[in-house]
Amino acid sequence: MSRPPAPPRHDHRRSTRKVRVALIGVGNCASSLVQGVHFYRDARDTDTVPGLMNVSLGGYHVRDIEFTAAFDIDRHKVGLDLGEAIYAAPNNTYRFADVPRLGVPVHRGMTHDGLGKYLSLKIDKAPGPTDDIINILRRTETDVVVSYLPVGSEMATKWYVEQALEAGCGFVNCIPVFIASQPYWQQRFRDRGLPIIGDDIKSQVGATITHRALVNLFRERGVRLDRTYQLNFGGNTDFLNMLERERLDSKKISKTNAVTSQLGTPMKADDVHVGPSDFVPWLADQKWCYIHMNGTTFGNVPLKCEVKLEVWDSPNSAGVVIDAVRCIKLALDRGIAGPLTGPSSYFMKSPPEQFTDHDARERTAAFIRGEEPASAATPPAPAGETTVETDGAVAPSLSIHP
Ligand SMILES: NC(=O)c1ccc[n+]([C@@H]2O[C@H](COP(=O)([O-])OP(=O)(O)OC[C@H]3O[C@@H](n4cnc5c(N)ncnc54)[C@H](O)[C@@H]3O)[C@@H](O)[C@H]2O)c1
Repeated sequence: MSRPPAPPRHDHRRSTRKVRVALIGVGNCASSLVQGVHFYRDARDTDTVPGLMNVSLGGYHVRDIEFTAAFDIDRHKVGLDLGEAIYAAPNNTYRFADVPRLGVPVHRGMTHDGLGKYLSLKIDKAPGPTDDIINILRRTETDVVVSYLPVGSEMATKWYVEQALEAGCGFVNCIPVFIASQPYWQQRFRDRGLPIIGDDIKSQVGATITHRALVNLFRERGVRLDRTYQLNFGGNTDFLNMLERERLDSKKISKTNAVTSQLGTPMKADDVHVGPSDFVPWLADQKWCYIHMNGTTFGNVPLKCEVKLEVWDSPNSAGVVIDAVRCIKLALDRGIAGPLTGPSSYFMKSPPEQFTDHDARERTAAFIRGEEPASAATPPAPAGETTVETDGAVAPSLSIHP
């Protein structure tokens, strides 16, 4: 597919060795990311550091990540310095670093459908009009915009993506609204000469990657998976918001696809249940996950597998975003536009193309080395439209390349 010439980008991207990041939504995930960038600033390149997949990625150290702007709509966050807002209630994640003031104000964003039924009970909207997001992104010479909006923010996501495109920024879409996996949006990014990684961040060792690893283990070892569920609950605003089932459609598709894409043969839709299940306030930002799997082994003999995982939800995803923003910066440096297929498949639950995590990791490493054809050449079918077949079977949603 021919690509229109990319519009000129700010020269600073070619000259500076910094990764300039703006955040949409200063909730728990943003808090963990900002804390992490501070926490790991002196990590040695040569060390294996707990919590990081890469201290240095493509020549960019964690300390090269700089926050340029932040947007929220909560009256207790807007107007604060980002270094303060990350600790403001209702954020309730683990505090592992004391971040100083960063000189980065939290601006008033655009609400749209950001606040659902339950979040509206907890969050008061900040007064005043929406700030000029495009201008702020341009003025601050932002390279990458990271979206941490609440689940179900369809309109808001699309609105912010338009702002980022107009301002000339790459995008990391951490939420399950399908952008990077959709041909329409892929083309919009290509047309602007900008890269995108998405959709829906896959945590370091979270429910999704654990479940995928087990599904792959069954498949590779010749065990047929007959039934499975993954139940998740936690006590943060993400889980509170997800009590509103109407906001959950894309989250459920995203989480289910992430697992069923690893199957060798289709399963009946009723035999797979993957999703957020409840809100338990005292868990705060912890997430507990139960995975159950029924399989058939040699001689049709049954097998049962039970896993319980307890994690702090937000730090678990921040370690992945720290790599995703650096991959976007590498793409900007190299003039690569559109969805980054390798990094998206490794970092996200609903990428443009699904691979096994082993293969996705190899592709990401190849991309970082500058070897992988980074951007999807032919857009595959959208993630939300290919999974559930009309006869009630859940097919492997996208091709697996073991
Ligand atoms: N491991 C993980 O934590 C993980 C994994 C996958 C996906 N995600 C997704 O990342 C997103 C963020 O998660 P979180 O735990 O930080 O949520 P959170 O509820 O703590 O934070 C969301 C923030 O967005 C703000 N907000 C709401 N509407 C807005 C708008 N229109 N404009 C700007 N800001 C707005 C809220 O005020 C809040 O500060 C969620 O969609 C979640 O599902 C998280």
